[in-house]
Amino acid sequence: MSTKIFAHRGASKYAPENTMAAFRLAELMQADGIETDVQLTKDQVPVIIHDETINRTTNKRGLVRNLTYEELRQTDAGAWFSRDYAGEKIISLDVFLQWIKKTPMLLNLELKTNKFPYPGIEKIVLQCLTYHGMKDRTTISSFNTDTILRFSALDNEIDTGFLTSRRPRQLFSLMEEIGAKALHPKYRLLNKKLIQDCLQHQVPIRVYTVNQPVYILRALEANCDVIISDVPDRALELQKGY
Ligand code: G3P
Repeated sequence: MSTKIFAHRGASKYAPENTMAAFRLAELMQADGIETDVQLTKDQVPVIIHDETINRTTNKRGLVRNLTYEELRQTDAGAWFSRDYAGEKIISLDVFLQWIKKTPMLLNLELKTNKFPYPGIEKIVLQCLTYHGMKDRTTISSFNTDTILRFSALDNEIDTGFLTSRRPRQLFSLMEEIGAKALHPKYRLLNKKLIQDCLQHQVPIRVYTVNQPVYILRALEANCDVIISDVPDRALELQKGY
């Protein structure tokens, strides 16, 4: 199986992360999939945004969990990146799924539950994926082991990935315990030992966020299942010559 290239928060080097502009660009670049983030608004709408606040990526301020979807829709999620993208909006998971299901792309949804657990987010996301018929094309990932555990308890068929920036002790027993089917390690964790251990445990590796050619080539060499990159065009180009 050849390595798949996923666009991290869309083609986020070239367009404002997690907006339709970044997602459309990823499709245009022929990325194999999109990696994006979900949180819940004050009125329990699952929305696509990375940070727990809207401060960095919009023209307003506040916590996602303290604002309604309607309030989030009033913000500009593109102008911070460049004037060319003024008017881009924060979108709901529903709007996003409505779009991606018509493309051939795969999906990696990261549940951002580290700072705030967003009670009920797993069920809400699962309902959305089921409604849009996207379950078979989606991987759920999280740094939060409780979130993965809860998700696999709700649906043990859906693909799940454990996100980590360090190698915990007893990695594979932990993954088994929480029902994680793949490992999503930070690119710096990728070494011979980890690759060998994952092979031995038959655990796919989906490495993030790989932008520099040297690390992209290393992940291709390791035959990672997925490379998650802000520059999917660069990763695809390197893959061609590989
Ligand atoms: O899912 C891969 C990557 O997005 C994880 O790190 O901080 O970008 O959410 P972060």
